Amino acid sequence: MLNLWLWGILPYIVLTIFIGGHFYRYQKDQFGWSTKSSEFLEKKRLRIGSLLFHWGILFVFGGHVLGLMIPVQFYEWLGVIEHMYHIVAISFGLPAGVAAMIGAIVLTWRRISVKRIKATTSASDWLTLILLIAVIVTGLTATTLNVDSNGFDYRTTIAPWLRGLFIFQVQPELMAQVPVWFKIHILTTFSLYVAWPFTRLVHVFSFPLRYLRRSYVIYKRRIPDQAIKNKRVS
Ligand code: HEM
Repeated sequence: MLNLWLWGILPYIVLTIFIGGHFYRYQKDQFGWSTKSSEFLEKKRLRIGSLLFHWGILFVFGGHVLGLMIPVQFYEWLGVIEHMYHIVAISFGLPAGVAAMIGAIVLTWRRISVKRIKATTSASDWLTLILLIAVIVTGLTATTLNVDSNGFDYRTTIAPWLRGLFIFQVQPELMAQVPVWFKIHILTTFSLYVAWPFTRLVHVFSFPLRYLRRSYVIYKRRIPDQAIKNKRVS
């Protein structure tokens, strides 16, 4: 029963809050939908922390897509055996996770140690950092404890469970034998998703792609050639 509740029902409650929360926030607080940049208050530590965190998380995200969204059968078809996959996953995943963690710690330390930043930090900002660090630490712990590739394989358990949720094929039984650290990691991510729409993390969905092809900014009206000639004649 607990299995069904945690891995069959709870994920949909979390997903509903995540999606509904974003719509609610967009309706109620469009002007607050921002990264709330604090760059003008302090730059140096922000640059180090932000770069480490964002690049780390980007690779962690890529690793999660490769490990959880792509079925193990596809790798087998490519000839990538379990041991090979595991070595690559660990060699990229662990450094990326550690970089993201160091970045998050630097960003937290910056908020604690710089007076002006501390004064402008809201409760939701603290919560965001705490949850991010908790998710990263539990992820790293699960990976480290499973570093021996003869151990548990999440690509035949967690991955199909997760993919099943998106197509409404609920299979909580796949989670029954999953080691506790992976379960803790996933439940911690659930709390992050519930808080997400009410924090500055909403900026993830406003990646400024339009910047790449932003239209020209016109500072001065163009005077037609004929008007210039007329001016010269007169
Ligand atoms: C439902 C969502 C998620 C699931 C099912 C999940 C599952 C997993 C699994 C199976 C691993 C082990 C990977 C390996 O050993 O190769 C892992 C590691 C990890 N996870 Fe997650 N995860 C989720 C969301 C997240 C999120 C949102 C974050 C960060 C904000 C995150 C951060 C990490 C980190 C840092 C690691 C350590 C290894 C690495 O860097 O890839 N996870 N996760």
